[in-house]
Amino acid sequence: MATHARGLTERAGTQTARGAESVVRVHDLVRRFGDRQILAGLDLSIGGGEFVALLGRSGSGKSTLLRALAGLDYDVAGSGEIDAPSRLSVVFQDSRLLPWQRVLDNVVLGLSGPDALAHGRESLAEVGLAGRERAWPNQLSGGEQQRVALARSLVREPELLLADEPFGSLDALTRIRMHGLLRQLCDRHKPAVLLVTHDVDEAIVLADRILIIDAGRIGVEVEVDLDSPRDPTDPRFAELRRYLLSRLGIDPCVDFRTVEQSVGASR
Ligand SMILES: Nc1ncnc2c1ncn2[C@@H]1O[C@H](COP(=O)(O)OP(=O)(O)O)[C@@H](O)[C@H]1O
Ligand SMILES: [Mg+2]
Repeated sequence: MATHARGLTERAGTQTARGAESVVRVHDLVRRFGDRQILAGLDLSIGGGEFVALLGRSGSGKSTLLRALAGLDYDVAGSGEIDAPSRLSVVFQDSRLLPWQRVLDNVVLGLSGPDALAHGRESLAEVGLAGRERAWPNQLSGGEQQRVALARSLVREPELLLADEPFGSLDALTRIRMHGLLRQLCDRHKPAVLLVTHDVDEAIVLADRILIIDAGRIGVEVEVDLDSPRDPTDPRFAELRRYLLSRLGIDPCVDFRTVEQSVGASR
């Protein structure tokens, strides 16, 4: 069981930033594939409007957790408790746009009501794609397709946005632009967010709180106490990056115990 450096939490992953009421509550979640246990009694809380980034090594169960939260994993039912809002949207690494539908039709897919198209247009304008409503998905760049995917998820005004490496296939410059856009959209719409990423800098730039999944549970929890917009040249940014990398096993030269206290981490 984890202890928290600031004494704020009893179980890793269960703290929510600034005492916000939880909109996601996961308790003792277990998921096995055959005889392999991927989630091993995982606990997690996310507060309303809180932006949480989830890091972890490849194969550590990040997507498994996200799918369980999204209600896409029927076999996980009955193991532990999952309490997540029904108004949720999911964004994946590939945009998953329907190639035979124009951009606006993709955004409003499944929406009904007289205002659906107008809301779809507004969402496209918010992601910088006003005027591209009638384009086909394959006429857009990878970054633009992810913008459409964001518009499609936000037009539903989700209480919870689940994103699984949404910028993983974009080039570095596009990715940086998308970070700014996502932060802006989240500040405006204020969904709770769980962003799965393998990019430590992305997590620090965007998140209020960073978690690392390890051995099927939340093994590390850090509240990111840096000014916004986050500055990668800030020494505290660099310190947090080194700490997270060391906990991910990427920078073995750093003894994470020496920096744990100063970055406010728990495990
Ligand atoms: N449907 C499945 N059947 C069998 N094994 C699976 C299935 N889905 C995921 N796994 C395994 O569970 C582990 C965690 O997968 P995943 O959650 O996708 O990891 P990641 O942290 O990289 O997102 C991996 O070893 C993967 O092979
Ligand atoms: Mg994954």
